[in-house]
Amino acid sequence: MAIQLGDAAPDFTAETTQGTIRFHEWLGDSWGVLFSHPKDFTPVCTTELGMVAKLKPEFDRRNVKVIGLSVDPVDSHERWESDIAETQGTAVNFPMIGDADRAVSNLYGMIHPNANDTLTVRSVFVVGPDKKVKLTVTYPASTGRNFDEVLRVIDSLQLTAQYAVATPVNWTDGEDVIIAASVSDDDAKVRFPGGWKAPKPYLRIVPQPNRA
Ligand code: BEZ
Repeated sequence: MAIQLGDAAPDFTAETTQGTIRFHEWLGDSWGVLFSHPKDFTPVCTTELGMVAKLKPEFDRRNVKVIGLSVDPVDSHERWESDIAETQGTAVNFPMIGDADRAVSNLYGMIHPNANDTLTVRSVFVVGPDKKVKLTVTYPASTGRNFDEVLRVIDSLQLTAQYAVATPVNWTDGEDVIIAASVSDDDAKVRFPGGWKAPKPYLRIVPQPNRA
């Protein structure tokens, strides 16, 4: 069965471009992003890895560790990384799992046989500090991901883990949020003493709590 939101993120030990990593131990108290790409030395993947490397300071700022994976071995990743540095203008600055035996790919359901029975699809798993899966996204090989969107979702996940709010469509950090439907009006008066706008009783809008 596919990994679902709220499931424990399976632990594993893997060889990476930064040595052997025990996933849960490596995560420590951080959030994590585990993402797969189909194949080394391919064009879309080259652009994706370059972008993740450029965004590393943004992941760091959010206390998020990033780790990539494909079914190519570590020595292939290492050879490819010089092409990424050359063409994308940045060194790969996060570990890449060499999953030649597909152990992690199979554990996380990253191989979708009806798309390709040997290569991983473009999976993203966001893992919380409690080691539970908070987000899963799957893209086909032909479509590069938007890692700004991954950061945007992490902002929402981290905010909604701390406050009884939800984030509306296309929300970005700093914008107004919605009081969670599970919060009664009486409870909301305590949690949001500044009040809220309610164009409908079920649509209660407040400034982002940690920005107000
Ligand atoms: C790519 O990264 O461009 C790619 C990888 C595998 C299949 C198709 C495209």
